[in-house]
Amino acid sequence: MKVTVVGAGNVGATCADVLAYREIANEVVLLDIKEGVAEGKALDIWQKAPINLYDTRTTGSTNDYTKTADSDVVVITSGLPRKPGMTRDDLIETNAGIVKMVTENVIKHSPEAIIIIVSNPLDVMTYQAHLTSAAPRTKVMGMAGILDTARYRAFLAEALNVSPKDIQAVLMGGHGDTMVPLPRYTTVSGIPVTELIDADQLEAIIARTKTGGGELVKLMGTSAWYAPGSAAAQMVEAIVRDQRRVFPVCVKLEGEYGISDCYLGVPVILGKNGIEKIIELDLTDSEMELLKVSEGHVKEVMRVLDNLG
Ligand code: NAI
Ligand code: 2OP
Repeated sequence: MKVTVVGAGNVGATCADVLAYREIANEVVLLDIKEGVAEGKALDIWQKAPINLYDTRTTGSTNDYTKTADSDVVVITSGLPRKPGMTRDDLIETNAGIVKMVTENVIKHSPEAIIIIVSNPLDVMTYQAHLTSAAPRTKVMGMAGILDTARYRAFLAEALNVSPKDIQAVLMGGHGDTMVPLPRYTTVSGIPVTELIDADQLEAIIARTKTGGGELVKLMGTSAWYAPGSAAAQMVEAIVRDQRRVFPVCVKLEGEYGISDCYLGVPVILGKNGIEKIIELDLTDSEMELLKVSEGHVKEVMRVLDNLG
């Protein structure tokens, strides 16, 4: 299996590193527009192989897409990250141009590739890549739900003083403050979380999750990369190993949840064909209301993209 990661910055390099040390692909190509950076980081990851004991061959390329030819999966992380005071939506103009150009090049050399978008604003960059690629919606998706759910699970593990491994949760909606964590589907090894934590504490954790990306931007002056890079690699793994994992993934909805023509995070089964199935949960009225708010916000930003032409 061959995987390309476009953008050798914080998230892209982390993703390539996880793909390599976990031997998720035989070959990983890292590509960036900045001269030498992808080659350098790929070489560094390759030189770590004898220490961490893996075979995955990692190579880098400065904007030469012939090196990415026939990739099975392509992860797109190229674009500006947030700086303090910025929202994800502030990135739209610059990142839309980058994602469009990158997707055109990717498809030209790997017409069958499954594409995973990471660049922000996530839901709308998934829209951009889907438009540009003209691929089926099952093959163009966005990573955010695994990250947002991981933040929620990590905060819960800390509050309950239990292993993060034992927290299961579902989080839906757009990647932003309108995301929809679902306490009704949150358990600690099968025990409903509401039996273990009081309502105020859970509410505070949900609020912190919604602004979890911003908390890190404030601390570091740029956005996070360890968890985002690992989350994207986990999606690649589910696809290349045909694991049929159930994850929240951003995909174009065509009537599911009563929503059409909108790119939103929903639980899906991820396998060798990309999105094998969209899982439709029976949401309560109040959960549905929150999802509708998220839909409204994403659609507003989609219209901004449409108006950019
Ligand atoms: P970064 O600045 O460290 O890396 C971005 C890389 O993209 C740079 O190396 C840059 O040279 C490269 N690049 C720019 N234009 C390019 C082009 N046309 N072709 C190839 N490479 C190009 O940024 P970081 O932290 O890696 O974040 C990348 C993106 O991912 C940002 O848009 C960020 O907001 C987003 N992000 C999304 C998350 C999610 O949950 N979906 C989580 C974290 C970040
Ligand atoms: C994050 O949530 C900024 O989308 C990025 O960390």
